[in-house]
Amino acid sequence: MEFSVKSGSPEKQRSACIVVGVFEPRRLTAVAEQLDEISGGYISNLLRRGDLEGKAGQMLLLHHVPNVLSERVLLVGCGKERELDERQYKQIISKTIKNLNETGSMEAVCFLTELHVKGRDTYWKVRQAVETAQDSLYTFLQLKTKKSDARRPLRKIVFNVPTRRELTVGERAVEHGLAVAAGITSAKDVANMPPNICNPVYLLEQAKLLSEQFSSLRVESVDEAKMQELGMNAYLAVGRGSDNASVMTIMHHNGGTPGQAPIVLVGKGLTFDSGGISIKPGEAMDEMKYDMCGAASVLGVMHTISKLNLPLNVIGVMAGCENMPDANAYRPGDILTTMSGQTVEVLNTDAEGRLVLCDALTYVESFEPDTVIDIATLTGACIVALGHHASGVMSSHNPLAHELINASEQSGDKAWRLPLWDEYQEQIESPFADMANLGGRAAGTITAACFLSRFTKKYNWAHMDIAGTAWKSGKDKGATGRPVPMLTQFLMNRAGVETEE
Ligand code: BES
Ligand code: MN
Ligand code: ZN
Repeated sequence: MEFSVKSGSPEKQRSACIVVGVFEPRRLTAVAEQLDEISGGYISNLLRRGDLEGKAGQMLLLHHVPNVLSERVLLVGCGKERELDERQYKQIISKTIKNLNETGSMEAVCFLTELHVKGRDTYWKVRQAVETAQDSLYTFLQLKTKKSDARRPLRKIVFNVPTRRELTVGERAVEHGLAVAAGITSAKDVANMPPNICNPVYLLEQAKLLSEQFSSLRVESVDEAKMQELGMNAYLAVGRGSDNASVMTIMHHNGGTPGQAPIVLVGKGLTFDSGGISIKPGEAMDEMKYDMCGAASVLGVMHTISKLNLPLNVIGVMAGCENMPDANAYRPGDILTTMSGQTVEVLNTDAEGRLVLCDALTYVESFEPDTVIDIATLTGACIVALGHHASGVMSSHNPLAHELINASEQSGDKAWRLPLWDEYQEQIESPFADMANLGGRAAGTITAACFLSRFTKKYNWAHMDIAGTAWKSGKDKGATGRPVPMLTQFLMNRAGVETEE
């Protein structure tokens, strides 16, 4: 879809549809007031008759409003003026976009970006509007034989800003919003792809396709033979029960100066997690195709930062692997020697993510990174702790944890820090090996991070558990593309990109 910004008055717009807000109870916004005036009180009459209360998300589509040049006027309920917050703003934008897409307006001028949202500026409102619009219109139809797209889809939307002075900041917001949305879409597309198609080699192919689009990107990969050579036995053990070969994909974005130490992102890429010999129960097992959402988000981030041409060196790793039960599969009781030399007793083959990640995290030491962040759908316990609203952030490096939490607040992609105190480390002690791959029921998200922390001593490191945020179940089933918004914001901050007025 096409987005632009403009600063104009509503009565001058000649468009298929003009979108204005109405507060509860039946109170016109300043812009709606202007339209009401030229139409001789047409809108206020309707409200008086009770056609629209102004509750958040209510919609009323009007045709041929007297003296209005645009074909349609969409009145959008915005709730009580003083209660308009970020969440409500995004909901209103999302409903508006869906409504426009379904009611035949192929273009629209939207004045909702002029609403006052507590603590947020025009840049934020426009950028969120672009990201929310793209999110709301996303569909995954590649594998349907009959596509059921809108008949006259929304093609073009203009967001209005209050003053001409804000046009530059609005244009920047559109550019950033589009780049973030492109990354989110890439992440959703690979994540939604079924596991009979999306295997570790498929992840590599998607990275190669992306690198053909951007000259800043270079792709390399580590196959099973190379892993063998390097002693990545934990990673290899997890993939041993699968016919799909394990592949680690490495994407280099060289936007910084040549010698500059890179920021490395490592994504868990279990293209299917059956649990292995410790097999999972059948319910919702299909959703374990989403166990590669960490890797998907890394692909998405690489897409966004390439589009933005960020002046940083960033390396994105997708740790592709499939966890299956088989005669050749690894088993509970096995003791594995990791690439770091440390040994691990396997207590449950379903705690596979940390085994793949620990070797990937050791591998990336060779890049002499400034910072390493891993992103993983690592523990069901994270859903118990934080639900589906916030991703978990764990780090023993306070400044990095703060940077990530700040980026999450700026981008609206929620994250919450959990502690990584040494007290938790004893839960993963093993009588037979250096550690076990399991820490018991208590604080399962933290003990998984403790496990990883033993492989990340050589650099500043943070871990993100996205088990609750990476996809949605139920009627809205699908990947969310999170945490692409927060990670790209983190990188934009590192690059010194202006993301405020
Ligand atoms: N991929 C799962 C975690 C998961 C489960 C994410 C459900 C989202 C929804 C991970 O590999 C796993 O199975 N973790 C186990 C760890 C346990 C065996 C210590 C879990 O969370 O049950
Ligand atoms: Mn598992
Ligand atoms: Zn898993």
